[in-house]
Amino acid sequence: MNISSARPPVPSDDPRWKLVAAAMRRHGHGADALIETLHAVQDAFGYLDDDSLRFVAGSLHAPYSLVYGVATFYQHFTLRPPGKHACVVCMGTACYIKGAQGLVDAVEKRLGIEAGRTTPDGKVSLLTARCLGSCGMAPAAVLDGAMHGKIKTGALIAEVEEWLKHDS
Ligand code: FES
Repeated sequence: MNISSARPPVPSDDPRWKLVAAAMRRHGHGADALIETLHAVQDAFGYLDDDSLRFVAGSLHAPYSLVYGVATFYQHFTLRPPGKHACVVCMGTACYIKGAQGLVDAVEKRLGIEAGRTTPDGKVSLLTARCLGSCGMAPAAVLDGAMHGKIKTGALIAEVEEWLKHDS
């Protein structure tokens, strides 16, 4: 391998990076695959954070400024959930079949916001992802970065209640 083709290691051992890597292989690692790759990261994680943007830039050999510029230009992309806490519910096929819509509906109702939004007090962001890479654990959600498989509505709402209770 020569230096110019070296790619950075994935930011963590989170299984969702495998989904991103697969998308990169599908779209190629050229700079023209940038938007598709950013979509893949957001689909997997629900948003784009700085580590993700730097990883994408390094993988595609694109300047960080370009990656950041594209991510901020398109309204579709979300940079870091603005809420103090983040609830990302997987809406991929496996999770959908196992009732993910009910999870989203319940959190939307409890928080009074739609998916993709943050509560007005900035406490909680509710996001969705297309697949979290843990389909065998459907329905899955990531709560403040921690994966929760086979999660039930009651348990999910209980987590959200904890956030609301301790940050008041
Ligand atoms: S569809 Fe939800 S983890 Fe894959």
